[in-house]
Amino acid sequence: MTAAIYPGSFDPMTFGHLDVIKRASKMFDRLTVSVLDNKAKNALFSVEERVSILKEATKDMPNVTIDSFCGLLVDYAAQKGIHSSVRGLRAITDFEYELQIAQTNRLLSKGMLDTVFLTTSLEYSYLSSSGVKEIAAFGGDISPCVPDFVAELVYNKYKGRNIT
Ligand code: PNS
Repeated sequence: MTAAIYPGSFDPMTFGHLDVIKRASKMFDRLTVSVLDNKAKNALFSVEERVSILKEATKDMPNVTIDSFCGLLVDYAAQKGIHSSVRGLRAITDFEYELQIAQTNRLLSKGMLDTVFLTTSLEYSYLSSSGVKEIAAFGGDISPCVPDFVAELVYNKYKGRNIT
């Protein structure tokens, strides 16, 4: 049985994330998408909200499980007995950051956690959660970036907020 973790902030999940989830779920028997509970980051959505968004978006994918984790990815993966991590690569600008994480995880896990990179489908290569938040904060259209139910949740977060 092959298994992988797709870790991330998912604040919020975009079509780019969903594309990686769909494709990775076809490569592995089981895929655990896991939200990092990072207290240091000022997230728009709580971990519970992000988990709930991911659950709704993947409800028709039977081999995909949604979870959250704190601390080091290598410790979480070891607890689950999983040896592969999946990450999406959008452009060359992602590469240095992703290479650093992948190498660190291989080192920390003594080779027990390897990273599989999926190049993001071209139509989503421009997408980022921070871009989505910025567009929404200024009242722009995020419908090409996230599913409709996510767009509504994002707009609700900015309702009544003064961002100038
Ligand atoms: O969606 P993101 O914010 O780019 O995801 C980054 C993530 C969650 C994959 C990475 O920050 C992570 O795995 N953090 C957990 C802490 C950890 O294991 N750090 C050591 C590797 S740098």
